[in-house]
Amino acid sequence: MGKSSKDKRDSYYRLAKEQGWRARSAFKLLQLNSQFNLFADATRVVDLCAAPGSWSQVLSRTLPPTSTIVSLDLQPMTPLPGVITLQADITHPSTLPLLLQHLGNEPADLVVSDGAPDVTGLHDLDEYIQSQLLLAALNLATCVLKPGGGFVAKIFRGRDVAVVFAQLRCLFDRVTCAKPRSSRGSSIEAFVVCEGYSPPTGFKPSLEAPLGLGTKFPESGRGVSAGPNGRDKEEEHLVDGVREAELRETEGGEDGDHDDAQEARYIVPFIACGDLSEFDSDATYALPEVDEFGQKWKSKDPIQPPTAPPYKTALEMRRQLGGGGPPKS
Ligand SMILES: C[S@@+](CC[C@H](N)C(=O)[O-])C[C@H]1O[C@@H](n2cnc3c(N)ncnc32)[C@H](O)[C@@H]1O
Repeated sequence: MGKSSKDKRDSYYRLAKEQGWRARSAFKLLQLNSQFNLFADATRVVDLCAAPGSWSQVLSRTLPPTSTIVSLDLQPMTPLPGVITLQADITHPSTLPLLLQHLGNEPADLVVSDGAPDVTGLHDLDEYIQSQLLLAALNLATCVLKPGGGFVAKIFRGRDVAVVFAQLRCLFDRVTCAKPRSSRGSSIEAFVVCEGYSPPTGFKPSLEAPLGLGTKFPESGRGVSAGPNGRDKEEEHLVDGVREAELRETEGGEDGDHDDAQEARYIVPFIACGDLSEFDSDATYALPEVDEFGQKWKSKDPIQPPTAPPYKTALEMRRQLGGGGPPKS
């Protein structure tokens, strides 16, 4: 396949190269921000699962220059100006102290996570691993966020996504499921946008007991700030840690084989974001004839080839076996 063929089929891939973003994912964060104004007043931001770094680029280009941006990933990341880049596993207990150290033990305004596992194609497994990454990101977020802070994370809209929404709703005033225009419609990927971090009184963030599992929040000790529906939080009841008034229990599972009475589910608003004038990520577009300088348009190379892609070993092994390098494009 020619280089320009991918440019035609994926306008966000082409635009990312032309605008200097390390990955097309940059447009997802830009479109989420234009819908939710995520960066208003944010000067201390954590970018989890950040490699190759396009979300960190968006943060460093958008936030005030004195901001603290801490980005981490399993993979090494090529440094970015104004960004602290760390190599760490968000599921590992040693990551929290590292993060806090680089935040100078001050709370963060916003935690974003675009974490994704290497997809196996086995949908249940992929969804499970994705949900574990989301929970790991959320656990870290609860340990570093300031009250009122925000959390944005990639989610796969699988069968049990409403259970995850219920857990999130327990910790934030507003939870929305958002699909940016640059995220392919054919993909089950979406983003949870959680605003107004306000854990129930008595909730102690801890990696040992993630999400306060097993914690009974005292009825009497709850905060009294107005809840999202204008109710006092004191009036809300917690069921398995979820605000009861906001729950939508489902009767019988899809296949009726598990006890749904134990499961708290919550239906969140779903918002498609990005202007209709922007590219549709599932459509193919004609390539421009000239570039921004009026010169004949030419396909560009990616800004930042992966530093240590997981498939590097496979390519090396193939080369050693005489199979040649990656296919020429
Ligand atoms: C879709 S990419 C992120 C793209 C990034 N937001 C950007 O704009 O360049 C998903 C990233 O999740 C990272 N990841 C997966 N599991 C992780 C883990 N346990 N800890 C840290 N990073 C992880 C992968 O290494 C990969 O770089």
